Amino acid sequence: MSLNHMPKHVAIIMDGNGRWAKKRLFPRTSGHRAGIKSVRQAIEYAVEHKIERLTLFAFGRENWQRPQEEVDTLMRLFSEVLVKELPMLKENNVCLNVVGDRSRLCAEVLDNMKITESQTLSNTGLQLNIAIDYSGQWEIVEAAKSIVKAVQDGSLGINDISEEIFSRHLQTNITQPVDLFIRTSGEQRISNFMNWQLSYAEFYFCSKMWPDFRKKDFQAAIDSFLKRKRRFGKTDEQL
Ligand code: IPE
Ligand code: IPE
Ligand code: MG
Repeated sequence: MSLNHMPKHVAIIMDGNGRWAKKRLFPRTSGHRAGIKSVRQAIEYAVEHKIERLTLFAFGRENWQRPQEEVDTLMRLFSEVLVKELPMLKENNVCLNVVGDRSRLCAEVLDNMKITESQTLSNTGLQLNIAIDYSGQWEIVEAAKSIVKAVQDGSLGINDISEEIFSRHLQTNITQPVDLFIRTSGEQRISNFMNWQLSYAEFYFCSKMWPDFRKKDFQAAIDSFLKRKRRFGKTDEQL
């Protein structure tokens, strides 16, 4: 029995690429490469099931601290995938939006990002957000700065600041709350991802490493979600 509707917004922390590779005695970077197939599967699942929004965490602000070689490989991979997957995104009517701090990304990644974004801009199907150099705390601080500016220039009154107004100042423009949050690899933390948007999300932890994540694993997360009662503070009787 379903207690819920399909989630409108699903966010995924794609974790476990390094451990997947280590178990096979491969370099960590081969795990990142193997994870691309899972990205495709997640996108296809979302398209097939008419999920409105899918936000994927590809690279966090804290990930700059990894060995330079791994960071370089990841950046190269982003650049490559953004070009290679453009026909797939077009075919599936997916609109891509890369979210995060763009100031530290190299020209190649930025250029390919902009090309894929502009070529999928008018697509009306799945809204796909890929978070690169993203941090939930950074997003909130940037929103606070933008609100202070609006107050200073007189376009916003202090008493008009509400959750709704605040979310409109989010730099990533992701104002829709996350309904279902999925993290692979067995880790149970949010690692600075979508702090604002996760306020009332349902959490689902999958023990598989990201390169092993397939549509049936996405389906298992959805099945779990559909069985949950989301009360949003109310009592059972009020629902
Ligand atoms: C997630 O996999 C990918 C990125 C963070 C870019 P990891 O690289 O974190 O894999 P583990 O957690 O070390 O296994
Ligand atoms: C979070 O994963 C970032 C991405 C999956 C892109 P990490 O593997 O970097 O997170 P921690 O360090 O385990 O919290
Ligand atoms: Mg990890």
